[in-house]
Amino acid sequence: MSNQPFTLRHPQLLIRPLVHDLHAYVPGEQPKIKGLIKLNTNENPYPPSPRVLAAVAAAVDGRLRLYPNPTSQALREKLAKLHGCQPENIIVGNGSDELLALAVRAFVEPSKGLNAIFGKQAFRIRTIVQYFTPSYSLYPVLADIHGAAQNAVPLELDFSLPSLAELKRRRQWDFGAALSLVTTPNAPSGRGYQTAELERLCRAQKGVVVLDEAYADFAAENALKLALEFPHVLVARTFSKAYSLCFQRVGYFVGPPALIAALDKIRDSYNVNGLGQIAAVATLEDLKYYEANFKKIIATRAWLTAALTELGFRVLPSQANFILAHPPLLPAQAWLQKLRAKKILVRWFSAMAVQDYLRITIGTPDEAAALVNAAREILAQPGLPTA
Ligand SMILES: Cc1ncc(COP(=O)(O)O)c(C=O)c1O
Repeated sequence: MSNQPFTLRHPQLLIRPLVHDLHAYVPGEQPKIKGLIKLNTNENPYPPSPRVLAAVAAAVDGRLRLYPNPTSQALREKLAKLHGCQPENIIVGNGSDELLALAVRAFVEPSKGLNAIFGKQAFRIRTIVQYFTPSYSLYPVLADIHGAAQNAVPLELDFSLPSLAELKRRRQWDFGAALSLVTTPNAPSGRGYQTAELERLCRAQKGVVVLDEAYADFAAENALKLALEFPHVLVARTFSKAYSLCFQRVGYFVGPPALIAALDKIRDSYNVNGLGQIAAVATLEDLKYYEANFKKIIATRAWLTAALTELGFRVLPSQANFILAHPPLLPAQAWLQKLRAKKILVRWFSAMAVQDYLRITIGTPDEAAALVNAAREILAQPGLPTA
């Protein structure tokens, strides 16, 4: 029998060119190596509260055959109470990653072929996804997936936000961008931003602004109130980091009902799994447990910063559950390998602005001590250049 019909349909030719050429997001490694200290993906070192584990366990029964609540209603009601707003101000997603992708699809017109579709009207259509660099490396991938034009604008060298006057003077930042994504506190630097400076930026922006507050619970302040004051500002939060629920994939946006409703229109019908909704509701009923964990993580962050600084690392001040550290004597990538050989996994990014640094998640005090001991041993190895 001839296989002619199949050769005509070569799989590569069936894929859209945009998808074929896409550089996909690279998540941090999730290796299953016994005894590995995993400090590479900003997971919380402490487990979910016993009440959350009990609630999830109690829900694992015959009800798994049913679809979950399509709008995460109970969770949205609880979140609304927590943040002093209405359920209409909140959308829940399969992690905040899903909602970031929905925001690109809801607010940004893909740029390719715009002239053909809209002709002379094209100049009125907002097309740009904009973000600072370095920040969350998913943003450019989301823009690429959507075929959207993007504008990546460098932060200051110390990863602080350029002032409004500076942004205007440099003429790189687009105040008319369809969607501006601002990671606050910043990742991967950990730098915190003041609500007042974020407010100035939002005020100047004509398109939608998402303040991505994935790490806000470890910071001195957050900008949630801006999402309830401005008609074009959304705040992204997640249960992954501060609430030890990466596995369950629950994140949410807070913002004006009109924008939330637009996102709601284009999400999957049952986008948040049932056990995730139950876990997140139970989390909100046990916030004291988590507040104690924030304090422990912030204390370990201070201890680790001081201990690494003593060994010659230059550690940036952090408002998150990780630090960005410039290691001494060897390139950061070599440190990554040497620490891995000692069963400690941290994160290294090849992007120019951060390639001289390691991003280290704050673990338990024991894990932080093990990292410091390993660094001390590496520095004592013969043949290393001296400081
Ligand atoms: C800045 C930032 N935003 C969002 C996320 C995604 O969080 P989620 O687990 O809710 O999808 C991450 C995860 O690494 C992050 O670093």
